[in-house]
Amino acid sequence: MKKLRLGSFFTVVLILLVVYALVKWGIPAVSREVTTLPFPLPVPGTLMFFYMVLTVVALFLFVTFSEEGLDDFLRPVKKLLRGGYSKIARAAVLLAVPVVVSWQVYEVVVPKVEVPSSLRIQHPSSNFPKSFEDKKNPIANPGEAQVTAFIEQAEANEIEFIPQVQEDVENWMNEVEPDHVLEFFAVEPVKKFLAQLESGSVDRETARAALLEKNLFEGRALYAMNCRACHGDSVAGDGPMADGFKLRPINFTDNGTIETIVEGYTFWRVTNGGPGLPTEATPWDSAMPEWKLSLTEEERWKIILAEYDLAQKTPRIPESH
Ligand code: HEC
Repeated sequence: MKKLRLGSFFTVVLILLVVYALVKWGIPAVSREVTTLPFPLPVPGTLMFFYMVLTVVALFLFVTFSEEGLDDFLRPVKKLLRGGYSKIARAAVLLAVPVVVSWQVYEVVVPKVEVPSSLRIQHPSSNFPKSFEDKKNPIANPGEAQVTAFIEQAEANEIEFIPQVQEDVENWMNEVEPDHVLEFFAVEPVKKFLAQLESGSVDRETARAALLEKNLFEGRALYAMNCRACHGDSVAGDGPMADGFKLRPINFTDNGTIETIVEGYTFWRVTNGGPGLPTEATPWDSAMPEWKLSLTEEERWKIILAEYDLAQKTPRIPESH
C-alpha cells in the first residue's frame, strides 16, 4: 500500500488547526475535569493569540530551516497557481480567499444591534410602597419621650447603649474611669450637656443634640459591622469586598446616589436589599443583602443616619402633596 505523505504545506495547516482546536475546546474540557466545576473555564482571547503566534513562529522556523524545506512547503502553492490541480480548483481558491477576507472585514465593521449598556435603573420605584415616601428617620428626629428618657438616663449616669457597642464602652470606662459615661463622646454638644447636668438646669435642645451624637456613634458602629465590607470605610463603595461584584456597591459620596432620594426610599432599599428590587433594576443582580432579615428597624435607621453623616449628604425632602 502506498504510504500517504502529506507534504509540509498540509502538515503546517493541520498543525495550526489542531493547536487551535486544542486551545479552543481542549483546555476548557480539561479544566472541567481538573476543577470539577459544572462549567468549563473559558480561554481568554489573548491566550489564544499567544499560543497561535508561538505556533506560527515555530512552524515558520521549521519550514524555513533549509532550502528544500521551503521548496517542499511552497510546492503545492506553486502547483495550484500554475493550474496543476485543475483550473476549477485554482479559481475556487482564488475566489475563496478574498471572499473570506471580505466577510471577516464585514463582520468587524457592520453595526450590531445591541442592548444599550446603561439600561439599569438605579432608583426603580415601580414597587416602592407609597407609605414609605413620607417616613422620617425617627433616630435623626428623636421625639419628646426619647429626649426625656435620655435626660433621665444621663442624670442617673446609666446611659443605655445597643448591645453591639456595650463592651467597647465598658472597656473604655474601666480604663479611663470617667465621672460620667457620656465623657466617652468628646464632642461639643455632649460637653455642653454634661456641663448643664452638673449645674442642674438641662435644656431639651442640648439634650437632643447630645442624644443625636450617641445615635450617630451607634449608627457608625453598626455600619462598620454590616456595611463597611462592601461600601467601604469612606462610604465611597470601595470596601474590601467591593471589587468582587459586577454591580459595584454604591458610592454614597456620589451626588447621584443617596442624596437624590428621600429617607423613606433609602430605608426601603436597605430593608429589602437586592432581592426586593423590581425587574427594571436588572440585568445585573444586586448583591445588597436584605437587611430586614438581620437588623431591627431601629438599627437600620441608625445606620442610615450614620450613612448620610459619613457621606456628608442630606436626604432629599419629600414633595408636599
Ligand atoms: C455584599 C455587599 C453589600 C453589603 C454588605 C451592603 N451593601 Fe448596600 N449595596 C450593595 C450593592 C452591590 C449595591 C448597588 C446595587 C443596588 O443598587 O442595589 C448597594 C446599594 C445600596 C444602596 C442604594 C443606594 C442608591 O442610591 O441607590 C443603599 C442605600 C445601601 N446599599 C445601603 C447599605 C447599608 C446601609 C448596608 C449595611 C447595613 C449595606 N448597604 C451593605 C452591596 C452591599
